[in-house]
Amino acid sequence: MKKLLFSAIAALSIFSTSAADKYVPSEEVKRSQKEFSADRFGIFIHWGIYSMFGQGEWYLNYGVRADEYAKAAKGFYPVDFNAEEWAKAIKGSGARYICFTSRHHDGFSMWDTKQSDYNIMKATPFKRDIIKELSDACRKEDLKLHLYYSHIDWTRPDYPRGRTGLKTGRDSTYSDWNKYYKFMNAQLTELLTNYGPIRAIWFDGVWDHDQDSVPFDWQLRPQYDMIHRLQPACLIGNNHHITPFEGEDIQIFERDAPGENTAGLSGQDISRLPLETCQTMNGMWGYKAIDTNYKSTTELIRFLVKTAGLGANLLLNIGPQPNGELPATALDRLRGMGEWLKINGETIYGTEGSPFAEQPWGTATRNGERLFLHIIKPGTTEIHLPSDIKVRKAEIFSSRIPVETRKTKNGTVLHMEATPDVPDHIIEVTLKK
Ligand code: GLC
Repeated sequence: MKKLLFSAIAALSIFSTSAADKYVPSEEVKRSQKEFSADRFGIFIHWGIYSMFGQGEWYLNYGVRADEYAKAAKGFYPVDFNAEEWAKAIKGSGARYICFTSRHHDGFSMWDTKQSDYNIMKATPFKRDIIKELSDACRKEDLKLHLYYSHIDWTRPDYPRGRTGLKTGRDSTYSDWNKYYKFMNAQLTELLTNYGPIRAIWFDGVWDHDQDSVPFDWQLRPQYDMIHRLQPACLIGNNHHITPFEGEDIQIFERDAPGENTAGLSGQDISRLPLETCQTMNGMWGYKAIDTNYKSTTELIRFLVKTAGLGANLLLNIGPQPNGELPATALDRLRGMGEWLKINGETIYGTEGSPFAEQPWGTATRNGERLFLHIIKPGTTEIHLPSDIKVRKAEIFSSRIPVETRKTKNGTVLHMEATPDVPDHIIEVTLKK
């Protein structure tokens, strides 16, 4: 109910701005959308001075004063940071893009911004522009770069306080939205001017004001229009947990595949925009020392398959360590996924989602006349395909061994020996034209 109300309020506040016009994506955006969907797999990176505390990216919200927290910046010197090594490891996983946290809710900027001194160049001894190094490394490895940008700022006094980050010592009587809005737009302009093509801006934090008594006007549309003016091919996504607003080019889901809501952050309608689900490898986004509970490679492959079956991308997160390295377990998972995608990538990249709902045995992806059945339940011996799926032949994807098919009045039944205990046993069905 709260969500519904918030949706209505958000829609109203959008319409209250001058740019309420219906959004028509440009040809450049449409091309990026296509390319983005075909990629199917990206890596999210949450890295900032919060990594130093080893307690995730929300540490500043846990009762620390912003001035105490800021002291971590003075010690931020990640000796082992090497953007090329990150990019190589990520490329090796089969991921096709990286989404990096340029500035998280703590307000610390990871690039050479001129809009605030609270940044990697001015506030740390490291003095290296992380976004510059990362954008160069991405270009070398032919990875697309997306930038996460928080609408929230738990440190700046001009940010109108919402429902989070209330104990950081900011003056509760002062705020200056116009100043803060200008600051954000100036920062976004830098990001979209100085680092080459940015394929997407990934916003987060609108939910900070979802309990306001008077609807909060984020003035998103003029901000989105500015982004599209600066880089016409740049996609805009916003992790607001509700149905996309005018001006957005992708729809984001957090922790759940589209249509599911186990984490309590989703449940919104699925739009016709390209979809992306972000998910953690362990349980937290930013580096959290006590959280070593990583999902297995098999689980991650199955989650990728599931999202692809729903026609969505998977944005899988890593929280690099304070020394700048990716955690060894994360590297292991990247390798594992890369090995799998090297062999099976054509059943994932460039595919559409399944023509039928997820089944107890798994799901499907499709590329033209090729329908890939992803059997993630070992021991499966029979698969029923609905009658609108006209089967010409079926074979095991890896060995090309034919699979017995039998037509019934309810569709086609595939018979096979109990499928092996692998992350995903794939059968390729060739459809009749
Ligand atoms: C949530 C969290 C944020 C994280 C994001 C990633 O919005 O507040 O910390 O960056 O999810 O999906």
